[in-house]
Amino acid sequence: MGKLASQTDARLVRIARLLIDHATVVVSGTKIAAEIGTSRSEVWRLIQQLRELGVDIAGHPSTGYSLRSMPDLLLPDMLSPLLQRTIFAKHIHHYYKIGSTNTATMEAASAGAPEGSVFVAEQQTAGRGRGGNQWHSARSTGIYCSVLLRPPLPPSDALILSLAAGLAVHSAVQEIDSRVVPDLKWPNDVLIDGKKFCGILTEMNAEVTRVRYVVIGIGINVNQSSFPADLERLATSLRLATGSEWSRVELCTALLKSLDREYGLLLKQSDAPNSILRRFQERSSSVRGQQVEVEENGGFKGVTEGLDARGFLQVRTAQGVRTILSGSVRPR
Ligand code: BTN
Repeated sequence: MGKLASQTDARLVRIARLLIDHATVVVSGTKIAAEIGTSRSEVWRLIQQLRELGVDIAGHPSTGYSLRSMPDLLLPDMLSPLLQRTIFAKHIHHYYKIGSTNTATMEAASAGAPEGSVFVAEQQTAGRGRGGNQWHSARSTGIYCSVLLRPPLPPSDALILSLAAGLAVHSAVQEIDSRVVPDLKWPNDVLIDGKKFCGILTEMNAEVTRVRYVVIGIGINVNQSSFPADLERLATSLRLATGSEWSRVELCTALLKSLDREYGLLLKQSDAPNSILRRFQERSSSVRGQQVEVEENGGFKGVTEGLDARGFLQVRTAQGVRTILSGSVRPR
C-alpha cells in the first residue's frame, strides 16, 4: 500500500473513547497510559496526533487531559456499531491521510481482503475520478469511501451495480433531509441544482465470465463551504445546497446501509436489475429527452433515450440510436 497509507492507530480511537466517556472531567496521563497499556510520553504523542485530527483536547499541567470538542470523524468505532447486520460492519479501515481509498481497496482486494471491507479517509492526496480526473478531497469536509464487493456475477453486471451505488447515495441523502432532491446523471454523478456533489468510481478485476472483485469508490462533498476556482461552477456540497452542516457519520452510515440493501437485492432477486434501471431513470432528469453531446468515437450529438437492459445510455442521433459505453455525456 502507498507510503502515505498508514491506518489510523487504534490507540487514538481508544483515547478518544476514554475522553468522550469522561467528557466532564480531567483524565490523568497515567490513567490513560494504564488503560491503553503504554507510557505517559507515548500518551502525550498520541494526544498530539488526535489534535492534528481536529480533536480539541485541553492539557492541564500536572493533572491530565480533557475533551473540549470532537469533530465528526469517520472512525471505525463510530461507524461499526451503526452498521450491524450489514456486510460493512466488520472490516472498516480508517486513514487520516491516504493517496486514494480506491487504490488502497484494489490493493487490499488483490491481497485477499474480505467482501464488505470499507476504506475511508479524512483526506486524499491523490483522489481519483472517472476518466483519469482528480477528485478534490479536502480534509474532513467530504466523505471519501471505497467498498470491496465480490459479487458472483458476470462482468457485464458491474454497470448495474455502479448505478445501484448512485441510487444508494440518492436515498441516503433523502433519508437525512427529504427536502433535498438529488438528480442522478448517467452513469455515476449525483447533482443538486445542476451541480455535482457526488462522484462514483467503480473499478473491477474480472475474468471473462466472472467478477473477481469490484471496488466502488464514493466521493461526497458534504461540508465544503467553497471550492477551488476551477470547480466552483460545476461543484457543490450538501452544506452549500442546504445552508447547514451535515453529520458525515450519519450520512456515511445511511449510505452504507442503503448500499447493503441494494447489493442484497441484486444478489437475491432476479428482478433487481430491472428495479435498479427503473428507479435510476425515475431519479434522473437527463436520462431521457435531453439534448447532449457525447465525447466518444470522435464526438457526436443527439437526444438521450433511456437506458438499455444492461444499463448503457441510449442516444438518438441523425444516424439512429447509439449506445454510449464510456464516453462523457454533456448537455448542450
Ligand atoms: C468521478 O465523479 O469522477 C468519480 C469520483 C470518485 C471519487 C471517490 S472518493 C473515494 C474514492 N477514492 C478515489 O480515489 N476515488 C473515489
